[in-house]
Amino acid sequence: SLKANIGKYRFNNVLLNAAGIRCATTDELTKILHSTAGGCVTKSATPQPREGNESPRMKATPMGCINSMGLPNHGLDYYLKFAEENQDKNDNQVILSIAGLSVDQNLEMLHKIQDSSFTGLTELNLSCPNIKGESQIAYDFEAVRDILTKAFKFFKKDIGIKLPPYFDLHQFDQIAAVLNDFPIAYVNSINSIGNGLVVNADTESVVIKPKGGFGGLGGDYVKPTALANVRGLRLRLKPEIAIIGTGGIKSGRDVFEHILCGANVVQIGTAFGFDGVSIFDRISKELKEIMAEKGYTSLDDFRGKLKTL
Ligand code: DHB
Repeated sequence: SLKANIGKYRFNNVLLNAAGIRCATTDELTKILHSTAGGCVTKSATPQPREGNESPRMKATPMGCINSMGLPNHGLDYYLKFAEENQDKNDNQVILSIAGLSVDQNLEMLHKIQDSSFTGLTELNLSCPNIKGESQIAYDFEAVRDILTKAFKFFKKDIGIKLPPYFDLHQFDQIAAVLNDFPIAYVNSINSIGNGLVVNADTESVVIKPKGGFGGLGGDYVKPTALANVRGLRLRLKPEIAIIGTGGIKSGRDVFEHILCGANVVQIGTAFGFDGVSIFDRISKELKEIMAEKGYTSLDDFRGKLKTL
């Protein structure tokens, strides 16, 4: 079976959408809940609705995509209402993603969630690369410690942290040392690789408008970096912290690789954007075929069991 769990939260399928892709409206979210996926993740919310950056702000390429959306979303109240109304039906989880533009905005949203009837997982996104003038919070380890210290003083529900990719093993040590001091349910690695630049040689131009063309990369570009982050964090985080693997998944084989590196659950962003909800059927089938070939009956049979040479 492809069942998975994060602590007490059960998922009837290991596949979820990644925040940001086809998950901004209740229509899109309902489609995911009615699909083969094990649940849905909401577009990262801010306290108030936002229009986001100017268009064009996303561009597909043969290897993936680049985007600088700038957090267009309907505001926390909209997603919190959907989450309250649809939470945990038949092990189909709703994960509520939030991305405040400041510590205070994040704490304000966590207070609202704490005071709500929502009992599911909240994903605190500390890694949005596309807000003009802002840096990605999770590259500042003391800022992460500060926000988590403030949050856990009053937030008694379960929380996951969406992390950016790290590129130096010392960064893995540093973020793990901070996260291991808190009762975090999971980390989600990785968000897009921030501030890439796609160039069109024909037009001699960038391909998206915001930030002079700089934007977050997803798709084939990011898979090895994602696998390194899942593996690097699994080797360093305390066992009570689960890992969601996100980055470069477009086949059952990619999911298998993420789970070998230690992922408990995985999320699909760019490829879900290309294919829509049918991707959850195809990838489930491909993953089951690989498992059958290898004689595995559950994801636990191979999770984290990557061999080294
Ligand atoms: C956006 C992009 C991200 O990678 C993210 O984590 C949050 C928001 C965006 O541009 O909307």
